[in-house]
Amino acid sequence: MKKLFEKTTLANMELKNRFVRSATWENMTTEDGHLTHKLYDIYEELAKNEVGLIITGYANVVKEEQPNPGMMGIYDDCFIPEYQKLTGLVHKHGSKIVKQIAYGGTKTSFNVGERVIFAPSEVAERGTGTLGKEMTKADIDYIVDAFAQAGRRAKESGFDGVEIHAAHTYLINQFLSPYYNKRTDEYGGSLTNRMRFLIEIYHKMRELVGEDYPILVKLTATEFFESGLTFGETMLICLKLQELGVAAIEISGNIHGKARGMVGEEFDGFTIQKEGYFVDYANSIGELINIPVITVGGFQNIDAIKAILNKTHVDYFALSRPLLAEPNLISRWANGDKAKAKCVRCSKCRTSEGNYCTVFNKVG
Ligand SMILES: Cc1cc2nc3c(=O)[nH]c(=O)nc-3n(C[C@H](O)[C@H](O)[C@H](O)COP(=O)(O)O)c2cc1C
Repeated sequence: MKKLFEKTTLANMELKNRFVRSATWENMTTEDGHLTHKLYDIYEELAKNEVGLIITGYANVVKEEQPNPGMMGIYDDCFIPEYQKLTGLVHKHGSKIVKQIAYGGTKTSFNVGERVIFAPSEVAERGTGTLGKEMTKADIDYIVDAFAQAGRRAKESGFDGVEIHAAHTYLINQFLSPYYNKRTDEYGGSLTNRMRFLIEIYHKMRELVGEDYPILVKLTATEFFESGLTFGETMLICLKLQELGVAAIEISGNIHGKARGMVGEEFDGFTIQKEGYFVDYANSIGELINIPVITVGGFQNIDAIKAILNKTHVDYFALSRPLLAEPNLISRWANGDKAKAKCVRCSKCRTSEGNYCTVFNKVG
C-alpha cells in the first residue's frame, strides 16, 4: 500500500511526502516583481510545515508582460541572488522548491491598453474579453528564448526544478487550444502544430539547463467548453511530453472558482469529483504515461486523498487555497490530526493588498 507520508523520488528530487503546494500567486512583490520579507516568510513557513514540494507562484519571463500585479519576476539575472536566498530557506527545512514560469497573455485585465499583449490569434479571451496581438515568428522566437532563459535562471537560483505553466488559458494553453489558436502557419491547425510552441520552449530550455534538470509542465485537463482543447488531445500532449523528457505533469483545469459547483458534471467522458476535481482525468493520464502525475484542485480530506493514492495512478496531490487557510495543514495531518482542511473554497483569497485567506488566516 502506498503512503502519503513516504519518501519518493520525482526525477532527481527526493521528496519527503506526496504533498505539493500548487503554484499560488501571492500579490506581494515590489512593482518590478522582486521578493519582499512577507514572501520569504510564507515560503519558509510552508517548508517548516512539511510541504514536500513547493511550487512558487507564477513568475513572468519578460519584464513588459505581467497578467497580474504583485507577481514574481524572473526576466533578468538580477533576480538570481534573492531567489538563492529563498531556495536556501526552503532547503534548510528539507522541502524542495520548483519555480513556476509563465507568459500570461490575454487572460488579464491588468494595465490592458498600456502594453502589447501577445496571443496566437486575435481571439478575445472568454473571461476578460481582452484581445491580443497575433504573434509573428520573431515574437514567438523572443518568447521561446525568454522561457528558456527563465529556466536557466531557476536552475542558477537553486530551484530544484522549473514548471512551465501551460494551463489556465495563459499563452501556451492558447497555442494548444483550437479555440484560441486560428493560425495557418506551422504553429496552428493540427495538434502537432499547436504543440510546436511548447515543444520549442522545452527544447531551448533543455539546451540551457542540461539533461538532468527537472522540467515539469502544468496542463489543463480539458477546456470544458465546446470547440476548446479536449481531454483526448491533452492525453496526446502528455505522451509527447513524456517522450521529450518532461519530469512530471500537473493536471489542472481552468474552472477554479466554479469547480465546486460543477462537481458531478461530465466533460469528455469524465466526471468532476468532489475530492480532487480532476482526479478522473489525472488517473487516465497516469495510466497512459510512466512519469509522475500531480493533480490539483479541491483536496480537503486526508483519508480520501489516501484512498485516491491507492485506487488510481495519481502520484502527488497539490493544494493551493487550503494552504492559504492553514499553512500548517500538512504538518497537522502528519502529526495525526486528520480533521479535514478548514478551507471552504470560497475563493475570497485574492485581495488588492495581497492574496491570503480572508476567512481563516487574516494575519497571514
Ligand atoms: C490566490 C490564488 C493564486 C493562484 N495562482 C496561481 C499561479 O500562480 N499559478 C497557477 O498555475 N495556478 C494558480 N492558482 C491556481 C491554484 O494553483 C490551484 O490550481 C487552484 O486554486 C485549485 O486548487 P485548490 O482547490 O487546492 O485551491 C492560484 C489560485 C489562487 C486561489
